[in-house]
Amino acid sequence: MFLNEKSIKEDLVTNIIGKKIFFLEKVDSTNTYARKLVQRGFGEGIVVIADHQTKGRGRFGKKWHSPPGTGAWMSVILNPVGSKDSLININYICALSVVEAIYNLTYVKGEIKWPNDILINKKKVGGILSELVKFEDKKEFMIAGIGININQSYDDFPSDLREIATSLKIICGIELVREEIIINILQFLEKYYLLSFENRTDVIFKEWLKWCTTIGKKIRIATSEKYFEGVAESIKPDGKLLLRNSLNEIKEVTPGDIIQVIEYIN
Ligand code: BTN
Repeated sequence: MFLNEKSIKEDLVTNIIGKKIFFLEKVDSTNTYARKLVQRGFGEGIVVIADHQTKGRGRFGKKWHSPPGTGAWMSVILNPVGSKDSLININYICALSVVEAIYNLTYVKGEIKWPNDILINKKKVGGILSELVKFEDKKEFMIAGIGININQSYDDFPSDLREIATSLKIICGIELVREEIIINILQFLEKYYLLSFENRTDVIFKEWLKWCTTIGKKIRIATSEKYFEGVAESIKPDGKLLLRNSLNEIKEVTPGDIIQVIEYIN
């Protein structure tokens, strides 16, 4: 079933996020669409929601499987957040909003896997792709792309994703109302977005850390140049992961450099 536009508009209680929402039945990617809107002069708070993405984009240049009638595929246009790296702050805000919205509606505790995957039972249920749009006059906008697998059944995933991806329906055993999840995410997004303008990015990071399950895990990280292996020791507010290797040395890994993170079962 196509998303109920009216119920989202009526039930969303926000001042900024979603002040205008573009509902699309089918689009290549909501992030690409939002980028075009920014270039046409649209700005902060505009949301693009699609029922179906034909070229949904994931991080590391991967495709994001976004079939019709099943998920939340959306992008939000925001102003840069925080005094330093806005991309990392937007990632924190989005991931936090997603896990809190899921918990609020289902009592299921999602996990944030560094740098920004949303997992449940070790499988990916959602992801975030934030992008920066820069104009020549130096004005910048952020596009926060959020994808959540909601009502897919196991067989709806392509075979290469079945063992690594999941949906809220698989986890909860019932179909969920996609509109409710979208509304909840947008409301949490507004809460954390506003908080970030009160110079409270430290609070947001602390909250994010509570949901992040990477610390203490043995992981292998691929960057375009080399592999890093070790135990995740800590994460810095700027998003860098400190990894202790077998020689007891600490290596710092920047989220933007990585192309894959593999967790080992300890
Ligand atoms: C990831 O690789 O984990 C990030 C996935 C992000 C997917 C969302 S779906 C809505 C938005 N539009 C896109 O093309 N990608 C993001």
